[in-house]
Amino acid sequence: MMKNILVTGGAGFIGSNFVLYMLKEHKDICLINLDKLTYAGNLENLKGIEGDTRHVFVQGDIGDAVLVGELFKKYDIDSVVNFAAESHVDRSIENPGVFAQTNVMGTVNLLSCARKAWEQEDGSYPKGVKFVQVSTDEVYGSLGETGFFTESTPLCPHSPYSASKASADLFVMAWHDTYGLPVNITRCSNNYGPFQFPEKLIPLMIHNACHKKNLPVYGDGLNVRDWLYVEDHCKAIDKVLRGGATGEVYNVGGHNERTNIDIVKKIIGLVNEKVDKSVDETLIQYVADRKGHDRRYGIDPEKIQKALGWSPETAFEDGIERTIRWYLDNDEWLQDVTSGAYMEYYEKMYKNR
Ligand code: NAD
Ligand code: DAU
Repeated sequence: MMKNILVTGGAGFIGSNFVLYMLKEHKDICLINLDKLTYAGNLENLKGIEGDTRHVFVQGDIGDAVLVGELFKKYDIDSVVNFAAESHVDRSIENPGVFAQTNVMGTVNLLSCARKAWEQEDGSYPKGVKFVQVSTDEVYGSLGETGFFTESTPLCPHSPYSASKASADLFVMAWHDTYGLPVNITRCSNNYGPFQFPEKLIPLMIHNACHKKNLPVYGDGLNVRDWLYVEDHCKAIDKVLRGGATGEVYNVGGHNERTNIDIVKKIIGLVNEKVDKSVDETLIQYVADRKGHDRRYGIDPEKIQKALGWSPETAFEDGIERTIRWYLDNDEWLQDVTSGAYMEYYEKMYKNR
């Protein structure tokens, strides 16, 4: 039974949702939350658990061998859930080096520290220890108009981001195959929900629509993503952590494929209805396509459904309304993260697009 869990990247979007979910669901756990607090990490996301002694926040880098080694010893860590990563595809196209550093080398360091802490003299591992790597469907590359990614779809990443995540996945499996480390990998589709940094499609469009700014749609807007409410992803990771068979990969997704332009129009409709009647589709601006833009992602979640009894619980229509409501109710959060460095990022990415 897991007790002391090292959660990395637990101040980011999915990581903070996971921390909040786990503390709500499980009484007898302690979460050691290691996060570097890059532009994407935000302690405000964890305000709701301030004072909860089952949560310890440590600011630091997953690539820091001394720090991670100390955390394993000090807190007697028995599980790792690795969310920490550079996660934005557009940034990886501009600046790939840090993606290799954090996503690949950082993961290798965590694996080495986990092995050092857990491997016994005879090469076996104590019952119950587990390393869960939070990966992505992007490692499979791009689909045509039909078919879905299964766990046996060959890895075929295209962007520097997805190449770094695929590489990390291979290292995780290497630690399993070579040293016997008990691991799982989850590969989830696109998440949306509270605390998502407004560089990603859904929060960026909500933010721009609410401020009557142009809505930049890449290419023809017909690329397809498979959207999952973040809490459903957290529930899947919890199930894998507790019940995943050693060495197995689990795809996570909810058969909710949408074109980007449909998502943008849906957000316009809801902002028009709930915020400002003058927001309409004239805000849409088709801009230059992303380099190497994957056309379609679609997950086959049958394995996790059958093996672990997971299935998504939040319908997209509910999830997107809830998400827009969250951003409206948390305007201060949004203003904080969109001031300063965000403006520079936005100008650089979108000005001459
Ligand atoms: P995010 O960018 O919102 O958060 C990443 C977090 O990692 C931040 O808190 C950041 O400070 C931290 N971090 C970055 N570098 C670090 C380092 N060197 N050491 C310690 N902490 C560091 O990302 P997210 O969207 O929450 O994604 C979390 C994980 O889930 C990533 O591994 C990502 O690849 C994966 N994933 C994301 C999605 C999605 O739709 N967002 C879908 C599938 C999988
Ligand atoms: O599939 C899982 C992946 O989903 C995760 O591994 C990544 O960490 C996460 O960032 C996400 O990657 P995407 O590239 O699919 O997400 P993003 O929100 O950046 O873009 C979604 C789609 O919207 C994509 O086809 C590009 C398009 N887009 C995006 C932005 C930011 C636009 O048309 N305009 C935009 O301004």
